[in-house]
Amino acid sequence: MSKITTCVFDAYGTLFDVNAAARALAGAPGQAGFAAVWAQVSADWRTKQLQYSWLRAVTGDHCDFWQVTQDGLDWALERAGLDDPELREALLGLYWQLAPYPEVPRVLGALQQAGIARAILSNGSPAMLEGAVASAELGGLLDAVLSVEDVGVFKPDARVYDLVGARFGCAPDEVLFVSSNGWDAAAAAAYGFRTLWVNRAGDPVDRLPGRPDTVAGDLGAVANILGI
Ligand code: LAC
Repeated sequence: MSKITTCVFDAYGTLFDVNAAARALAGAPGQAGFAAVWAQVSADWRTKQLQYSWLRAVTGDHCDFWQVTQDGLDWALERAGLDDPELREALLGLYWQLAPYPEVPRVLGALQQAGIARAILSNGSPAMLEGAVASAELGGLLDAVLSVEDVGVFKPDARVYDLVGARFGCAPDEVLFVSSNGWDAAAAAAYGFRTLWVNRAGDPVDRLPGRPDTVAGDLGAVANILGI
């Protein structure tokens, strides 16, 4: 087996907590109504955001991830009976500064120390990713932030995973790809990357052609896989 030279992370749900926006707003003063429904709104928002990304990849109707993020939120808010432009704007604003999971800086720092290249590969638009990376102060720990906008199609289209080899000049089996999205880990495994599925929710493995090499509850497993 080749030595792993490059560690590539999905962004939303993997490095950044996608529920952080709705959770933060639910805890703010004067948001008792939203506090009662935030968890369902957040789950619907994420589900619809992803569904729209997959459907647009299949039908060739690409738009950027900011558009499907807004469309998914609008669906989720309407389903919850919330017609509140201020709430909508507040939730969207928070999406540009999602909290990273607590172990993220430590894991990226350990990889940096060990001389492993580190990158994000995400559906996110370059501007969204720049905002999230800056807000989480991760810029100095990453060698590259790769966005699907360079190929104009969402994951799991293989052209997205091709961006890693194009940037780092490495073979797929020299890459450890890390995602909390089971479908993303499955597609990356089928593509030929080594894969870690960060299964924070304890979900069943996705029934897809690719299977992740390793499954763990958080990003700490990266260090074990690489022996660092
Ligand atoms: C991403 C989505 C899948 O960051 O979470 O690519």
